[in-house]
Amino acid sequence: NDHYLANIKKKGTLVMGTSPDYPPYEFLGNKDGQNEVEGADVQLGQKIAKDMGVKLQVKSMGFDSLLVGLQTNKVDMVIAGLNKTPQRAKSVSFSNSYYKSGTGLIINKDDKNKIKDYHDLKGKAVGAQVGSVQYDSIKKLSGVSTKGMENANDLIMALKSNKISAVAMDQSVAQAYANHNSGIVTIPSGLHSGDSDNNIAFSKGANSLVQSANKTITNLQKDNQYTNKFIPTAINEMPNN
Ligand code: ARG
Repeated sequence: NDHYLANIKKKGTLVMGTSPDYPPYEFLGNKDGQNEVEGADVQLGQKIAKDMGVKLQVKSMGFDSLLVGLQTNKVDMVIAGLNKTPQRAKSVSFSNSYYKSGTGLIINKDDKNKIKDYHDLKGKAVGAQVGSVQYDSIKKLSGVSTKGMENANDLIMALKSNKISAVAMDQSVAQAYANHNSGIVTIPSGLHSGDSDNNIAFSKGANSLVQSANKTITNLQKDNQYTNKFIPTAINEMPNN
């Protein structure tokens, strides 16, 4: 048996890496005047740590550095609205799925009649987060120029200032951004960015951690807590802009 879980218990802390630019999964909220990472994934991380009998520590990193952070032991797990892909599964071990979300597009309201789905992106500049499955699927579209950015917030700003015509990201995140920004709307993309399952990533071979997390996920799934409790709580916590 591996020593991952035993080591975490000895440390007393489980370190979660995430990129807090992805509401309602993870975002910077404000508690008592202090920036704090909040969101449905953080609530999930807290539950996993609690079930292990340890404290959760959240570390913010750029999305594209998260899986490397896992491999270099900067974090013990990554929860970041992350999709399980065969490519990623080569370097990390995934838990079972805890949520599902397809790819959506965000566009300016004024373009609603011109852009209906990804077919209408030809000849346009489209933004996506570097390292995301959405970035890969936009890259594959012919005649579309892909604008990769590190931070999802910057993609929204570029869209609002008309530097790009659309942003591709997880549908539920696109919805959250659209709800909190007037002038932009989300539409279904028609894109299949691979598997739409969200999974937790652990170091390759950390089976004791994967098993422990899977137990927590199974328990939460009994009453659909991620969807029915964590997501609504996160939406309530979201800052108003
Ligand atoms: N679901 C997409 C992927 O796995 C994007 C996730 C981005 N997450 C974030 N916290 N910014 O590639």
